Amino acid sequence: MAVPASAPTGLVRLTTCGSVDDGKSTLIGRLLHDAGAVPSDQLAALEAAGGPPDLALLVDGLSAEREQGITIDVAYRYFDIGERRFILADTPGHEQYTRNMVTAASTADLAVVLVDARKGVLTQTRRHSRLLALLGVRRIVLAVNKMDLVDWSRDQFDAVVDDYRAFVAGLGLDDVAAIPLSARDGDNVAVRSVHARWYAGPTLMEHLRAVRLDESGPAALRMPVQGVTRPHADFRGFAGRIVTGAVRRGDLVRILPSGVTAHVERIVALDGDLDLADKGQSVTLTLTPDVDVSRGDVIADADRPPEVADQFEAHVVWMSASPLLPGRSYWLKLGAATVPARISDIRHKVNVDTGENLAARTLGLNDIGLCTLALDAPVPFEPYALSRDLGGFILIDRVTDETVGAGMIRFALRRAANLRLQPLTVSREDRAALKRQTPLVLWFTGLSGAGKSTIANRVEQGLLAEGRHSVLLDGDNVRHGLNRDLGFTDADRVENIRRIAEVARLMTDAGLVVLVSFISPFREERRMARECMAPGEFVEIFVDAPLATVEARDVKGLYAKARAGILSHFTGIDSPYEAPEAPDLRIDTTACSPAEAAELILALVRTRQDRPQGGSV
Ligand code: ADX
Repeated sequence: MAVPASAPTGLVRLTTCGSVDDGKSTLIGRLLHDAGAVPSDQLAALEAAGGPPDLALLVDGLSAEREQGITIDVAYRYFDIGERRFILADTPGHEQYTRNMVTAASTADLAVVLVDARKGVLTQTRRHSRLLALLGVRRIVLAVNKMDLVDWSRDQFDAVVDDYRAFVAGLGLDDVAAIPLSARDGDNVAVRSVHARWYAGPTLMEHLRAVRLDESGPAALRMPVQGVTRPHADFRGFAGRIVTGAVRRGDLVRILPSGVTAHVERIVALDGDLDLADKGQSVTLTLTPDVDVSRGDVIADADRPPEVADQFEAHVVWMSASPLLPGRSYWLKLGAATVPARISDIRHKVNVDTGENLAARTLGLNDIGLCTLALDAPVPFEPYALSRDLGGFILIDRVTDETVGAGMIRFALRRAANLRLQPLTVSREDRAALKRQTPLVLWFTGLSGAGKSTIANRVEQGLLAEGRHSVLLDGDNVRHGLNRDLGFTDADRVENIRRIAEVARLMTDAGLVVLVSFISPFREERRMARECMAPGEFVEIFVDAPLATVEARDVKGLYAKARAGILSHFTGIDSPYEAPEAPDLRIDTTACSPAEAAELILALVRTRQDRPQGGSV
């Protein structure tokens, strides 16, 4: 995920949840202070204020970034307790809590959940705990703070703890250690409280020092391949970080997704060859025989390989202000692999406050949904519950490069494995040859009323006259049938174009010249449509007309309705149109009549035909 790599052994990743009111800053300040991690000048500054130092200032008040208004999503603080080194991910502020928590918690070994002894378990406590469970944090310390304000009442403590345990049992979180404390006074943080003789458990620091972290047995080797190194002709090595397990010289390993096996010949590290490399180490392996391995592959134990699939069910946390568009192609990064992927369905949205599942067609900023994803290529993976490294992924917008989402794989959808492409005897070339033409997609894009359909219609008449076999797919018409279920939200337009690109593709398989006349307002979907077709088969024609002109003409009266607010999501008015940056042909409708435009396009079609025209033979 979009966070520092998993901890090497010895480093414990900790995160805290709770609000300022619960005393979170005070507790963090107290931990840093009692662990001796506060620089002396900061301490002196605190003490200069007189009275007992307000430790919360160590975290809040002294952080210059706050005064400067710079938002730091997650602050990392280091401290040691005994032999253990801790890295604490603190997520300041309430804004974007989901995104920040994902960043902080997706690598955490354990979490301190803070509650105010007077208030007990709140909505926010439940929300944070649900997120922790989703992000695979299995170990929780329930810090019941402000015990001094309830006179160190054992009954109050027990009531809060019982309430919390009952709640998290349903989330699969069973490793909960509850500690009564006062962060302000330091009771039960580093120093045992004299006020709670009834409490026999450890202080917070004792617990952190002793808590068992890794109970799983020896894990299987997993090394995502980051790169292929080839410094000279007789050396080809595969570089990466071992995320689980270990590798020895001579081991039989399996490469995924291909499934081929080979023996490890050398393990090369920065300072020379090794006999053995362990979890957390970055190494370069050479294999014998010298099998094919590429970036994004996973090198694994031959007899315990990870699964390989191209469809998943996963929880997706949406992190972008632009909503998720099912059907749109995003980059999916998992391990070292990056492949195009689409959200094929949002099963439901999760309300993290209540745990309810809600129907949803899209996800907005901070939303979490259970989704199905379809990838353009199979990838090696493991369920997130087993491996965060091979079960966690991020989604990246292909145009802006922004990280828009993070996901946790639940399982592969076997549908993918049970479907095979059928070999067909009659090929697309055979069908095209019979028609004596080269299939082509003429993709008309432009505002409503720009003249796409008029021009496409004329082009098709011309094709007919020249003896070419064609079909015209027009937005308004297709929306009466195949796409009757779709409206004009961004998500529906993405799906509209995805379907029509697939249809156009099938029709090129049939050997036809396909005319597609859809507004198709988004660059990303037009790019996707181009990728759908065989190389050179896609011709993007931008029917360019200024908004003022089409609005003045307003043939269908729709612009007037949109301006009057009767029609919403209207392209050019309150829904965007992304003009092509490099169309194959731009028709300037202010300078060119439909007949002239059609002639230009027909001329272009002729240049793309390497077979003699049907009509003239
Ligand atoms: S697209 O954006 O999804 O590609 P498409 O080409 O299928 O749109 O449909 C556009 C046609 O639908 C327009 O020519 C117009 O006649 C009609 N229409 C109805 N409502 C809208 C709207 N809100 N935005 C754009 N076109 C609309």
